[in-house]
Amino acid sequence: MKMNQKAEELSELKNILIVGSGGRENSIAWALSKNQSIEKIYVCPGNGGTSNFKKCICLKPKSEDEKTIINECQRLQINLVIIGPEVPLAKGLASKMREAGLTVFGPGKDGAQLEASKDWSKALMIENNIPTAKYWSAGSEDEALEILRRFNQPLVIKADGLAAGKGVTVCETIQQSMEAIKGVFSGKFGSAGNKVILEEKIEGPEVSIFALCDGEKLIVLPPAQDHKRLLEGDKGPNTGGMGAYAPAPLINDKDLQDLTELVLIPTLKGLKKKKIKYIGVIYAGLMLTSSGPKVIEFNCRFGDPECQALMPLMGEEFASVLFACARGELENAPKLSFNSQCSACVVAASKGYPESPQKADKINMNIESNPLLQIFHAGTTIDEFGNIITNGGRVLSVVAQGESFDKAFNLAYSNLNKISFDGMHFRKDIGYQVRDI
Ligand code: AMP
Ligand code: GLY
Repeated sequence: MKMNQKAEELSELKNILIVGSGGRENSIAWALSKNQSIEKIYVCPGNGGTSNFKKCICLKPKSEDEKTIINECQRLQINLVIIGPEVPLAKGLASKMREAGLTVFGPGKDGAQLEASKDWSKALMIENNIPTAKYWSAGSEDEALEILRRFNQPLVIKADGLAAGKGVTVCETIQQSMEAIKGVFSGKFGSAGNKVILEEKIEGPEVSIFALCDGEKLIVLPPAQDHKRLLEGDKGPNTGGMGAYAPAPLINDKDLQDLTELVLIPTLKGLKKKKIKYIGVIYAGLMLTSSGPKVIEFNCRFGDPECQALMPLMGEEFASVLFACARGELENAPKLSFNSQCSACVVAASKGYPESPQKADKINMNIESNPLLQIFHAGTTIDEFGNIITNGGRVLSVVAQGESFDKAFNLAYSNLNKISFDGMHFRKDIGYQVRDI
């Protein structure tokens, strides 16, 4: 009787608010909008593509405007808040919302340290026997240089805190490691550079795995592969991600089960031991080395653009599952089903991305609707004449599904060719690992 009542309460999910403005949040809004019983999805602040989806509406306040967002949630009778990006999570937005009585999917300030402090997350891995590269941490340049001298090998250098994907330098020489250490302590990362992590360099293909957690239990999503470098052949500077695909065939169902036991469950248990009720996504970036899988990083939210590739694979139960996680009662959620197709995502970026993205270019798009195709907006807005214009570095994600990755990528790329804006660029080799190119 009690279980039925709880399950029924999950169907009372009517109004959702998503915090964020990127492609990730646009794709989450789209996935949730497919659920018949949901009435309104507010995206705060959203982007130029938010209102393309039924029931989806932009709300003005930005994530820094915590008080206003909380008031808006109360006024709009929001049943579920989903926080997309890491910065508001690390600043404690989820914690403050919970204190105000809201139901939130996203870890509090304590749990967000999984991503917001590499030193903290490395220590958690070691404490819980989660395989990861050997590391040292240092609070000053001299201390870090001394560790490097003692080790006498090039080490990977990481700023401890959030650095928008720019805080990691994979070094080929000791000289590069020295320069990277000096870079971290130069102040360019602000307080994210108060500490440095020096890490053993490991090698192998990379894959990302994701768990939806309710504080106690978790559900694992299909694995995904990201493409972090700007240019084809994995060259050029690191970006937020230029494309992704899922499910990554690099790991099969059995591997995923093993990785769940090796990495995801011990991470959630380790958090619990620290009295942290972790509600949200645990994203583990892994490297499959010759001596087994190792965690390179944890994120405390969905990856962008991995999320855009994953959302079309989620069954209709997705909304109820997130709501159940946020309520700490995953056991009452319906079983999450996954579409078995291959999903491909290619990002179209603006001129100058990632260093100095150009904005305010008119976007021309002439795309026929197709149930196997989604155009997710990220850095876009609507100008005073109603034109969609660019408003940031990663402008759009073109996502397609098919029974093979070749078909999915062909559909994505043929539609990318129907989009144009000044300086638009994208990688033509996204998914090279799984395509015939
Ligand atoms: P992160 O910002 O932590 O995702 O790191 C960016 C990229 O740096 C990763 O995707 C890896 O390709 C690379 N990387 C990070 N740590 C290591 C490591 N210990 N050894 C080799 N490559 C690494
Ligand atoms: N795509 C990598 C990230 O979201 O951090």
